[in-house]
Amino acid sequence: MPVFTEIEDLRRLYQRRVPRMFYDYVDVGAWTGSTYRANRTDFERILFRQRVAQNIEARNLSTQMMGRPVSMPIALAPVGLLGMQHPDGEIHAARAANAAGVPFTLSTMSMCSIEDIAEATRAPFWFQLYTLRDEEFLDNVLERARRAGVTVLVLTLDLTIQGQRHKDLKNGMTAPPRLTLANIINIAQHPRWALGMLQTKRRSFGNIVGHARGVKSLDGLMEWTSRQFDQRLDWRRVEEIIRKWGGPVILKGINDPEDARRALDTGAQAMLVSNHGGRQLDGAPSTIRALPSIRRVVGPDYPLYLDSGIQSGQEALKAIASGANGVFIGRAFVYGLGAMGQKGVETSLSILRREMDITMALCGINDIKDFGPNCLWSDDLDNPTKAARN
Ligand SMILES: Cc1cc2nc3c(=O)[nH]c(=O)nc-3n(C[C@H](O)[C@H](O)[C@H](O)COP(=O)(O)O)c2cc1C
Repeated sequence: MPVFTEIEDLRRLYQRRVPRMFYDYVDVGAWTGSTYRANRTDFERILFRQRVAQNIEARNLSTQMMGRPVSMPIALAPVGLLGMQHPDGEIHAARAANAAGVPFTLSTMSMCSIEDIAEATRAPFWFQLYTLRDEEFLDNVLERARRAGVTVLVLTLDLTIQGQRHKDLKNGMTAPPRLTLANIINIAQHPRWALGMLQTKRRSFGNIVGHARGVKSLDGLMEWTSRQFDQRLDWRRVEEIIRKWGGPVILKGINDPEDARRALDTGAQAMLVSNHGGRQLDGAPSTIRALPSIRRVVGPDYPLYLDSGIQSGQEALKAIASGANGVFIGRAFVYGLGAMGQKGVETSLSILRREMDITMALCGINDIKDFGPNCLWSDDLDNPTKAARN
């Protein structure tokens, strides 16, 4: 059994175990990938303050997200097609999140349905909604989410048109994959994955097929999906959907202070600073760069989360110290899922937990609630006269 000490170990195993088109779907950004890369490299510019002799024996990572107790301030972000990374992938990820005491967010574009997750986990979860045109489907999916016990709606605003990812176009990515010669050869090289997929019935979009009018086959689904992303989306419509839902909402995809200012007026309970993991607007700033300006706009007490680029506990802590109340992870758990299903996601989460715990200790902090800007090196500290006052 290999020893997994960092998320990168899981990524390498994942790459070996899953057919190329699904690996390529995850491990990529839009166009040149500049925002995708900046989401990670911009963290490197932020430095921790190494503090000593602080008695760090009583450490605590547990806190709350959206009023829910969590064992650490990390949630699983909505990721489409998890059931193509691992058979019944959404169920595996949701169970791992429950075992680790962190929230799971089911994507609209999942293989397992809302009802599948409710039945398999019997625990509250969060649901991500794309703002779709089909009003009947929208009302219906919100009602299904309510009935399944979904506690928080994550409303994604940054995908009303799809950013271009070269590899997906070149691979002809679909779910389930079309049986072209190239795909058959590639799938044959991943027998463990293929066997698992043959054993599950969940190989298409479980929230859509059989629920959206006229969608019964893969072709019907592709056509329906491409018509659904609503390019007319505006703030009035966002407010309408928030009203329709009637419960707590996180607005996902805010990456600009002016949008954050407008989003506050919608009455949404929280925002998720996100650029969709660099998959939408290439050339946009990393979320860690945009975060401080957004925090200034929403004020110190508004629940603000961040995703995009987090693949270590250190990056999570840098985001928290820079103004986030918690973070969401995408690829960091998908690598684990593709590598080893539920156990892999649990491994991802325990790697992140350990990294957060050790880093917090070496910064001289016991409680995650005290991990703030004072834990980061600042220019003031380079100036000895100012530093003396700290
Ligand atoms: C393969 C993949 C599929 C995604 N699917 C969705 C989705 O269905 N809905 C959504 O709101 N965001 C989706 N996202 C964006 C994630 O929710 C999240 O914003 C992003 O993964 C964060 O960046 P990270 O992967 O660097 O952690 C997806 C991301 C990836 C990598």
